[in-house]
Amino acid sequence: MDRIRITGGQKLHGTIPISGAKNATLPLMIASLLTDQILILDNVPRLADVALLQRILGNHGVDIMVNGKRPGETQYDGQTLHISAANIIDTTAPYEFVSRMRASFWVIAPLVARMGEAKVSMPGGCAIGTRPVDLLIMALTALGAEIDIDRGYVIARATNGLKGGEIRFPKVTVGGTHTALMAASLARGTTVIENAACEPEIADVADCLNKMGASIHGAGTARIVVEGVPKLSGARHRVLPDRIETGTYAMAVAMTGGDLLLENARADLLQAAIDVMRAAGAEITETNAGLRVARNGAGIAPVEVTTSPFPGFPTDLQAQLMALMTCAKGTSHITETIFENRFMHVQELVRLGARIQLDGERATIEGVETLKGAPVMATDLRASVSLVIAALAAEGETMVNRVYHLDRGFERLEDKLSACGATIERISG
Ligand code: EPZ
Repeated sequence: MDRIRITGGQKLHGTIPISGAKNATLPLMIASLLTDQILILDNVPRLADVALLQRILGNHGVDIMVNGKRPGETQYDGQTLHISAANIIDTTAPYEFVSRMRASFWVIAPLVARMGEAKVSMPGGCAIGTRPVDLLIMALTALGAEIDIDRGYVIARATNGLKGGEIRFPKVTVGGTHTALMAASLARGTTVIENAACEPEIADVADCLNKMGASIHGAGTARIVVEGVPKLSGARHRVLPDRIETGTYAMAVAMTGGDLLLENARADLLQAAIDVMRAAGAEITETNAGLRVARNGAGIAPVEVTTSPFPGFPTDLQAQLMALMTCAKGTSHITETIFENRFMHVQELVRLGARIQLDGERATIEGVETLKGAPVMATDLRASVSLVIAALAAEGETMVNRVYHLDRGFERLEDKLSACGATIERISG
């Protein structure tokens, strides 16, 4: 298993290109199942989760062509995928795939909408929580799907197609909203989704679906109306920049000190996180090339943050913020309200000398002068990068184990950081 070795103490200076958003790319690839024509996606990040989803879609009979290098393309330019689901030959998504990436469960929506049937393994839990799919099933049922659960599989049927309906989510769910949008796009009649997720990735996917001929209004707000259409066509769509990658590197330079240009980053995608980082002492300015983030001289100020659905502070940046707060000049509090077990990074940060107390969903972080490098273990995608952030400022050497978690969501992280002065290298094996 690959490991990453970091020697802390270097400030970060330079430019980091921000890749296409993982959490838009995955549903966009799944949306290709809604049409028999070609969907072209630009700015697709080179991530393990994207490669896995290509295999999963291939299992359904989907053909995916990836563009080779193009004149003038740099190593960080996103990939272009040409995806054709002309012939879906299998409507089953097996456990060995879905258990490795829960977003693949979302294939249930386009499969039952277009093919009238789907048999998809329950995703199972993961490090950050039980991750149930009851609300995704509720959405499909509201659109007329007949659901059976048999030996760990969800079987959805709609032999006469789906029909529009009312979906009111009792809590905000990104996956539930993606599922409802994709299913409703091909349902007969009108669907109204209440208490929909407002994450930018939802609006990005809706924008692509509308390019494919769907009729979706209000995506990005809590109330979305979808007029179903009989067929969707191909389209070409560019994946929006990754707001979580943006926030992650912004916190890294806030931690080490220095000055970074986050190329192609968009402030409107992570305003709450920008407000928190400014309160913590980072200088963040919007430029036409992206976001400039610096911290010179002033220390890190403590903050009080509670995670919440967009436009609130994102849960996917909670671990990274906690790493930053370990060296604040004072005591901070971070409350995690989205997942029930998203503090797996705490014990690892404590190994580096952090002072963190947990009380249920609330963490109290007492800032320390310096962290000290040590071997640590990554447990999930965002926890692993919080260890990298801490290690970049720790005295001495840190070895981060199990970095396959990192590769799921961060494209060429060690290259991007070492290009800006970090002493970081991947050790294969
Ligand atoms: C998406 O996961 C993201 N994944 C997650 O990012 C992100 O943390 C999460 O949204 C919240 O923003 C992708 O987009 C691929 P939810 P999702 O449904 O859709 C509960 C990362 O690091 N819930 O919004 O699975 C659920 O347990 C990942 O990139 C139900 O109770 O999250 C959670 O407590 C991690 N029943 C809350 O809702 C359901 O049927 C929000 O989950 C569905 C969800």
